[in-house]
Amino acid sequence: MSDNTAGLAGVTAGQTAISTVGGESAGLTYRGYAIADLSAGASFEEVAHLLIHGQLPGAGELTAFHARLAEYRSLPPQLVRVLEAIPADAAPMDVLRTGVSMLGTLMSEQDEALEAATVGERLLAMMPSMLMYWHHYARGGQRIEVETDDDTIAGQFLHLLHGAAPEADAEGALAASLILYAEHEFNASTFTARVITATQADCFAAITGAIGALSGPLHGGANEQAMALIDRFADADDAERGVRERLAAKQRIMGFGHRVYRESDPRSAIIEAWAQRLAGDDPGRANVYDISKRIAEVMWRDKALFPNADFFHASAYRFLGIPTDLFTPIFVMSRLTGWIAHIVEQRADNRLIRPSADYVGPPLQTFVALDERS
Ligand code: COA
Repeated sequence: MSDNTAGLAGVTAGQTAISTVGGESAGLTYRGYAIADLSAGASFEEVAHLLIHGQLPGAGELTAFHARLAEYRSLPPQLVRVLEAIPADAAPMDVLRTGVSMLGTLMSEQDEALEAATVGERLLAMMPSMLMYWHHYARGGQRIEVETDDDTIAGQFLHLLHGAAPEADAEGALAASLILYAEHEFNASTFTARVITATQADCFAAITGAIGALSGPLHGGANEQAMALIDRFADADDAERGVRERLAAKQRIMGFGHRVYRESDPRSAIIEAWAQRLAGDDPGRANVYDISKRIAEVMWRDKALFPNADFFHASAYRFLGIPTDLFTPIFVMSRLTGWIAHIVEQRADNRLIRPSADYVGPPLQTFVALDERS
């Protein structure tokens, strides 16, 4: 069997006008805008509008977009009942997957003539509410009010998580993170969403499948695994020893390497700068940051592998007081915008996605009926 297409590495599987990812292109761009410019100068809501509606909003459009997102934040009572029925020890990614699937039974794209962009706006607004409602209910039986007066998704999420409006730096860091995670061409979860969309299934099916794909440790789950690794070490020297032992044992270090990027991931330096800023002069945080830095140095020196977007997200999220099991669900809150953009694009020029496979199984067999089989 030829495996030069294993994992479809290097295979161009379609066209997109949504983003460029490294290579000979302009680096990571969303609809032609560089990620560095967007993360430095735009809000996450502007980027969400860019992805979902195709262009950056004007001031009036942005105000209207914020108003719609605020309006859609509340959760339907049937969904609340489902969230309360989910076991307290469930994985939060499974909660979001189940919540989106449930919403698909409450809202019908066809009956309500909902466009994918409208479904996207509703899911974008509801995702933090869903996650935080279940989080507090599962941990302490608390039925929180999900509507806050925060104007942004990052602000509402941190407010619901901590029970108080966030500091500007914390909100800025999370907003930047949401921008960095929003879109990444034909990554596994986005491709999943496109494959499902291409069958003419609805947005809820596509997003439910995409969340499933994102939950795996080789994709979105890497930031949680990176945190678990960092937490094992007492200090930077301990980290150096531990990582070298793991590499010698041929273990994978989560948060390093990338299918497309070869020398660096443009998102890493941006989130690393936020992690360093959030660490400030707090000694505990500085230690976590130093451990992370040392792991990155060892990985580059010994394996020529660089941190991808996930690695420094681990320390940044820790400094924001976010529990580790919520790291990947935050990725969903963001990547949803890219998924919706791809659903819209796939629908605009749809063809069923159905590749072929090289058969490597047994030759034609003689069938023997059950009662004659030995
Ligand atoms: N730690 C240690 N070794 C790694 C590694 C990592 N994080 N990532 C890749 N490698 C090594 C592999 O062991 C392999 O070495 P080998 O040729 O000696 O067997 C080589 O690099 C190529 O890896 P491969 O898995 O074939 O590359 P890929 O393009 O299929 O995989 C990833 C890309 C992202 C799946 C891979 O780098 C990985 O598993 N990273 C960790 C998970 C992660 O951070 N995912 C988030 C991605 S944004």
